[in-house]
Amino acid sequence: MSQTETSAGEIQFPKDFLWGVSTASYQVEGNNHNCQWSDWERQGRIRSGDACGAACDWWENADPDFDLAREMGLNALRLSVEWSRIEPEEGKWDSTALDRYRALLQGLRDRGIRPVVCLHHFTNPCWFEKQGAFLNPRALAQFECFTRYVVSGLHDLCDFWVTFNEPNVYAASGYVLGEFPPGGIGKVATALRVTSVLAQCHLLAYRALHELQPHAQVGWAQHYVVFQPVATMFDRWVAHLLNETFNETFLRLVEHGELPFPLRLLDGNARDVKGACDFVGLNVYNRLHVAFDLRNVEYMFGRIFVPDHAPQGDPGVERPYGEAYPQAVRVAVERVGRLRKPIYILENGVPDARDRIRPWLLVNVVKELHALIGEGHDIRGYFHWTLTDNFEWTEGWNLRFGLVELDPKTQIRKMRGSGFLMGQIARSNGLSHDLIARYADEPSTNHVRTAAPGCPAER
Ligand code: BGC
Repeated sequence: MSQTETSAGEIQFPKDFLWGVSTASYQVEGNNHNCQWSDWERQGRIRSGDACGAACDWWENADPDFDLAREMGLNALRLSVEWSRIEPEEGKWDSTALDRYRALLQGLRDRGIRPVVCLHHFTNPCWFEKQGAFLNPRALAQFECFTRYVVSGLHDLCDFWVTFNEPNVYAASGYVLGEFPPGGIGKVATALRVTSVLAQCHLLAYRALHELQPHAQVGWAQHYVVFQPVATMFDRWVAHLLNETFNETFLRLVEHGELPFPLRLLDGNARDVKGACDFVGLNVYNRLHVAFDLRNVEYMFGRIFVPDHAPQGDPGVERPYGEAYPQAVRVAVERVGRLRKPIYILENGVPDARDRIRPWLLVNVVKELHALIGEGHDIRGYFHWTLTDNFEWTEGWNLRFGLVELDPKTQIRKMRGSGFLMGQIARSNGLSHDLIARYADEPSTNHVRTAAPGCPAER
């Protein structure tokens, strides 16, 4: 029997392991009308045609969801602060917004839940966006001011900070794929520039945080996709290229202060950023299969697809979701382990309104994490995306990632089976062999098409 296995047949996690859920301001608060995403919505860019509306109503009342998190036995919850509420006009600070965040953090602490605060989760105030967002030379100073204001106001309630959520997704979706505002398509050099500015902002926030709160834990959330080449040397070459431009850009700036070669010749180096993190946060969802295809110039000659037999979440309005692949956390952890910092899985989940495959994914990811810890990886927490169904960006209410089902019109909530399961795992700080056996087999799937988000359909 291993050290972390009990006689009752449970695999056990280390004592202070964090079991949490992750959320983001725009997706849960409701009635955010002053950021670039609300503009994007007004321009009709939400594919499902939905409106964010009251979302999960957290700005008015987060108690129902915080109570559910406590009932599940979670000991951590990640939320983000909405810059457009805190600084609605440049240089004008709204202390009542900060007070609302104080109340939210206090509400979590009162329930024995450790708050994790993310400073930037995709949304920018309209005034900042109009000035060119992170392409405006003043962005660095503006983001630092915002950071200092937030940290000065919240430091007695939180000491665990994520500077940016998924800088690679923000840059790729906003400047290459046209999926996020400002809707740029194919602007690879601009995306690299944005990535480097985000890295420099991250560094300024990292330094400001440590100045204001020396014991703070500061990191970022790295989205990591596994690009699986089909077979040939050419497939491997394209998968490598996609990996370098998507997974390795921001990550390499923090690891080495420069982008991978040859991207570093284009733009986007930030030498001082090297080493600026206390932990690495990982957001891991998908594996995508890659085949060389000369027709797909826009995807670096790669055809990206998910084989029909692979477990897959519910389809998006225009495209299916990627392959749900529990071992993706292994690939990601082994990669970021090279930074020799503690690792937190800060997001993992699947859109699955009927809970077809979420329980299987959850159990097998947790099992994989336990194995990785046993192999010596310093993994300190698992945060599921997400607690309650929330507004899924361009997909609106079409994709449901919640452990709890939400009817956004009535605000009625109902715990899904996977919510009870997450509770069982969190409360026991482990996984029973019964559960492992029950979810050992890959679920059969019944999805529709074969391409993945942001990728052309298989031709
Ligand atoms: C983002 C979340 C999003 C989730 C599911 C992550 O990349 O951080 O905001 O809802 O994926 O698509």
